[in-house]
Amino acid sequence: MNKSSHSELFIPFLHLETLQHPRYRALFNYIQQRILSGQLPSNSRLPSTRELADLLSLSRNTVKQVYEMLQSEGYIETRQGNGSYISAQLAPNRRTQQARRQPAYQPIRLSTKSTQLEQIRPLYHQDREQRLLPGIPALDQFPWPAWQRSVGHAGRQMKFSRDQDYMGEPALRNEIANYLNATRGMHCTMAQVMICSGSQQGMQLTFSMLLNPGEKVLVEDPGFPGIDGAISNAGGIKVSVPIDRQGFRSDLALTPQQDARLAFITPSRNFPLGYTLSIERRLQLLQWAKQQGCCIIEDDYDSEFRFDGPPLTALQGLDGEHSVIYSGTFSRILHPAIRLAYLVLPPALVEPFNRMRGFLDGGLSSLPQLALADFMSRGLFASHLRRMRKLYKARRDYLRQRVDPLFAGQLRWEPSDGGMHSVFLLPAGSDDKAIVAQAMQAGLGIRPLSYYYDQQPPRSGLVIGFAGDSETQIEQALARLKPIIEQQLPLSAQI
Ligand SMILES: Cc1ncc(COP(=O)(O)O)c(C=O)c1O
Repeated sequence: MNKSSHSELFIPFLHLETLQHPRYRALFNYIQQRILSGQLPSNSRLPSTRELADLLSLSRNTVKQVYEMLQSEGYIETRQGNGSYISAQLAPNRRTQQARRQPAYQPIRLSTKSTQLEQIRPLYHQDREQRLLPGIPALDQFPWPAWQRSVGHAGRQMKFSRDQDYMGEPALRNEIANYLNATRGMHCTMAQVMICSGSQQGMQLTFSMLLNPGEKVLVEDPGFPGIDGAISNAGGIKVSVPIDRQGFRSDLALTPQQDARLAFITPSRNFPLGYTLSIERRLQLLQWAKQQGCCIIEDDYDSEFRFDGPPLTALQGLDGEHSVIYSGTFSRILHPAIRLAYLVLPPALVEPFNRMRGFLDGGLSSLPQLALADFMSRGLFASHLRRMRKLYKARRDYLRQRVDPLFAGQLRWEPSDGGMHSVFLLPAGSDDKAIVAQAMQAGLGIRPLSYYYDQQPPRSGLVIGFAGDSETQIEQALARLKPIIEQQLPLSAQI
């Protein structure tokens, strides 16, 4: 048995410059590391607490506390009348110097699902403030004082409830159901509303509930790229369906040979082109879903902002609540950081989705949900929307008015009756991705239209957000875009 107390091993502890932890924790970590590295081998004796306290100028209580911790975690053992020893249970560490230098860990293996995500077109990542970024609301217009009052109110209301609902706070679900029935022509009760942390979470949940590996989902092309990862994660197969000015080409997609389980669409305003799904195609889709026992996911991401009339009736309202899963989000209409969205489920799906939710995350934190319920019940949400609708229309009009003369022959506005971004087409054959790459360097968040295409031949254009920027900011941003377009487009290119 090694009787040495290895006092010399503790000298470097005296020279640790800054102790990031309390002293007892730093000393614990120090001894633990030396035991694990084999410098303090099994059965070797530690200095007595008095000896070590003197050596390190620590109080004896601190050292005693550390020894107790080491003992309770199994690193050391006390032997009656004979001091503290490194535990005999710790296998002698036979690592050689060379082995110590090599990484001892084998790489962690990712699941097939997660490696498949690497094959999917990556989402654009915003790492700094960018002008003209699509999907960003007017953050400076957010009614902070009113929101803070709602948060305060929610804090006072919060109480522990044993039967917390996985679907979300009843008060918020009630507000959402009332809002949708009143403004979107929907037919739903609060029992059908499930609160999610974003539409993206709603999609992950929906696909995992309704799709078996190898089954198909019809999606718009061009369309929302965020959906690709959710489909892939469920092992589904994406079937891209072209769109035209009447929206999703259900006439092409819904053939008897096409045995899809689900369709994911943006009927009020196709993302990103802004086209609205015609009534004939809406009815066709609903008929298909009814006959095949399939579901349509209606992603209604920003249709609150229709400028030329009231918001369109949702597809869910036509359906009679059987086949449509409606998805809405507050991250676009209120604030990106709010991370609250919702699904409206057909009644038959409520129970199975609720069961899954219990296993998924047990629902979301109550506080922001109660705050939003209060904010809505006091009419603040509705008045904020009214104000933003006016403001965004003015910003959209300003953008168009400025683009027309500045980029004559280079950019052409693609008509759409609202939203938070506009699409401007570039001359055929021009490289929108090269323009965007340069624009990003100049602090602009515009996106290339071709990025949103999957299987269909892409059109070249720019997706330009207007909701988040003032007229002055729009003006300055366009001035930065001008030389980039001049440089990238050949002189002869005209639209
Ligand atoms: C068409 C569309 N659907 C859904 C989403 C996702 O919304 P959320 O932030 O609630 O996940 C976005 C976000 O940009 C979107 O553009």
